[in-house]
Amino acid sequence: MRFGHFDDARREYVITTPKTPYPWINYLGSEQFFGLVSHQGGGYCFYRDARLRRLTRYRYNNVPTDSGGRYFYINEGGDTWTPTFMPMKKELSFFECRHGLGYTQITGTRNGLRAEVLYFVPIGQTAEVHQVTLKNEGSTPKRFKLFSFVEFCLWNAHDDATNFQRNFSTGEVEVVGSTIYHKTEYRERRDHFAFYHVNAQVSGFDTDRESFIGLYNGFGDPDVPSAGESKNTVASGWSPIASHGLDVTLAPGEEKKFVFLLGYVENPRAEKWEKPGIINKTRAEQLIAAFSSSEQVTAALGKLREHWEGLLSNYAVESGDEKLNRMVNIWNPYQCMVTFNMSRSASYFESGIGRGMGFRDSNQDLLGFVHLVPERARERIIDIASTQFADGSAYHQYQPLTKRGNNDVGSGFNDDPLWLILGVSAYIKETGDYGILDEQVPFDNDPNNAATLLEHLKRSFDHVGHNLGPHGLPLIGRADWNDCLNLNCFSETPDESFQTTGNRTGRTAESVFIAGMFVHIGPDYAKICEYKGQSAEATRARAEVAKMERAVLEHGWDGEWFLRAYDFFGNKIGSKDCPEGDSKILIEPQGYCVMAGIGVATGEAKLALDSVKERLDTRYGIVLNNPPYRDYHVELGEISSYPPGYKENAGIFCHNNPWVMIAETVIGRGERAFEYYKKIAPAYLEDISEIHRTEPYVYSQMIAGKDAPRHGEAKNSWLTGTGSWNFVAISQYMLGVRPEWDGLCVKPCIGKEVPEFTVTRKCRGATYRIHVKSTGGTGQVKLVVDGKPIEGVIVPFAKPGSTVHIECEAS
Ligand code: BGC
Ligand code: NOJ
Repeated sequence: MRFGHFDDARREYVITTPKTPYPWINYLGSEQFFGLVSHQGGGYCFYRDARLRRLTRYRYNNVPTDSGGRYFYINEGGDTWTPTFMPMKKELSFFECRHGLGYTQITGTRNGLRAEVLYFVPIGQTAEVHQVTLKNEGSTPKRFKLFSFVEFCLWNAHDDATNFQRNFSTGEVEVVGSTIYHKTEYRERRDHFAFYHVNAQVSGFDTDRESFIGLYNGFGDPDVPSAGESKNTVASGWSPIASHGLDVTLAPGEEKKFVFLLGYVENPRAEKWEKPGIINKTRAEQLIAAFSSSEQVTAALGKLREHWEGLLSNYAVESGDEKLNRMVNIWNPYQCMVTFNMSRSASYFESGIGRGMGFRDSNQDLLGFVHLVPERARERIIDIASTQFADGSAYHQYQPLTKRGNNDVGSGFNDDPLWLILGVSAYIKETGDYGILDEQVPFDNDPNNAATLLEHLKRSFDHVGHNLGPHGLPLIGRADWNDCLNLNCFSETPDESFQTTGNRTGRTAESVFIAGMFVHIGPDYAKICEYKGQSAEATRARAEVAKMERAVLEHGWDGEWFLRAYDFFGNKIGSKDCPEGDSKILIEPQGYCVMAGIGVATGEAKLALDSVKERLDTRYGIVLNNPPYRDYHVELGEISSYPPGYKENAGIFCHNNPWVMIAETVIGRGERAFEYYKKIAPAYLEDISEIHRTEPYVYSQMIAGKDAPRHGEAKNSWLTGTGSWNFVAISQYMLGVRPEWDGLCVKPCIGKEVPEFTVTRKCRGATYRIHVKSTGGTGQVKLVVDGKPIEGVIVPFAKPGSTVHIECEAS
């Protein structure tokens, strides 16, 4: 069942009923200022850091769900309603939400009054525009009241939600004309404030929540809108809000627009005050002046559209499959931008106070993003690498505002360092900017202890070699990619986090997955060394990779698939020999080892992927492990804590499905890769939205597996490495166009189902137009470049400004 439709020409998803199976959200902003907005106006915004600079309040896991947002109330002759449907839930004769790239437009009509709210963050600004367009569609004049509403968060979202003994007494505002300033804590250590403005004369305002809503009321039955009169309250402590009251009249057919601006301003310390106790508003006034008319809003929205048009033109496919086109051309890269910006911090499943920028996550997010804005990828790489420790290991996350690593979600995950090599390689392949390797980058943000980025990569590479276990396989540490495979934790105490609890510093538990990563990523490190003239180091690296490959085949092979790991006691994990009730096969090493090429020549790769098909594939995607762990195992940790079929215990973890897709292309089975692709790509799931439940335009982290009662139901949409990896799988391996070290690799492997397509790829300033006839999915290709047949699959990089025409026959 559908709850809307794609409008590809406008690059929008159009939701036609407020009653979607879950709030379907969008993101505003892509640089410094961000907002989340649901299809019914719920959500919040923040400056850079969802934890430390939260502008508006949002209560997670609320009842009803998704209460709280930027709301507009209309009171026409005593009939009070909200055009976003929530929070008043009054019946609307028309409802539509259009989620576009960086903007959302929600329209509701009642009693012949059409109210459209457009939300977006203009490029380069630290503010949200909320433009309200009101139209009288009836035949008699209308006179009504419009009330805006936002509830401020007292900046630190964690403190705001917990420390009431203090923060019920700190709230402060100023009101000047049509602008409400939120200045809590500005009197002391903060140099920033927020404001909410409207470009019209107000008939009243409110800044005190209790007065506006009523202590025992909710957002759905607020006092002021229902009474139709603002109370002109000035908050003192408790919960500051901002509400403008406007008198509006509309002749039949008449339309009026109001521009509301919710902004964030920072003042230099010396310029904080206009006079004692009164904030210096100069910067706010400049921002307001830039968005005081609807013409300015239209121009800014136009710029935003152009901006996206430019970004998306770097990779585009035209094929006969409209779902494929819309995933590759619009929604998948859009999600990649959002994950790049947010990492795992703020979504409707990530509270913004739990997690910041993940070391492994952000490196993987780069993969699907680097072709959009390579300069920002470069900056991110330096930020990430600056948190690395001198021994190559890493904090698991850092806070975006401070850019400093912290141990809040643990450390000692032994896969972390290798992802840095992958991220840097992807960046250099895209840009050719080898100069990044010479950048001086600190360890643990200590400027007195810095080395080149190349040296950081060496430490990453060596971290594996310095931490090998009894079988010559990498020690897993706290966990590897699978945060929940906690082989050294032995946690028996409820409430401890598996990621931060005491860890036995065992030197036995080994990960076949990290071994696969090492074999996959190691050759890139060797290549980098070669480019830097360090051929001895390149030779050494290749020898270590070869040794690791042998160790995998010798100790990591189980007969029909790759083992997952050895535990603390040296027992096998993910083996046919595992006892009843334990998993016998896990997905990660199957995908990753084959991606690395392990066992391709000798047959293990094919066997492993056949086992995936037989034991892990379901109608909704590939589950992580099978059978699921039935009981809690203290020696395995969190993986066995989940009920069967959810999350890392046999959920369909969409992040690692694309590893299997890529692996299938490595052994020349493009048809199967594409079959897996379609099972989880959201556009293909639109018709089963009532089962899938999350947004049909973005990936979710997890879909309940076959062992769960709710098989097929997704959770944790938006912020997941799934976005990047699926983009890599489809664009670089199935459609088969990716930058490599020495040129653009063109090697489609998708099969007959997509018999003909054209990819336009911009890379290093040149444009490549690649026309593909696909008669089979074995990965065999013949290329004709600008009329001349070439050997192999690498098209040398062309001069900036040039266009290269490539004809490709893929069989
Ligand atoms: C989840 C993982 C997640 C981890 C983060 C676990 O509970 O299952 O998916 O990566 O928490 O700390
Ligand atoms: C989500 C985490 O963000 C990611 O880093 C991890 O790899 C997966 N969960 C699997 O546990």
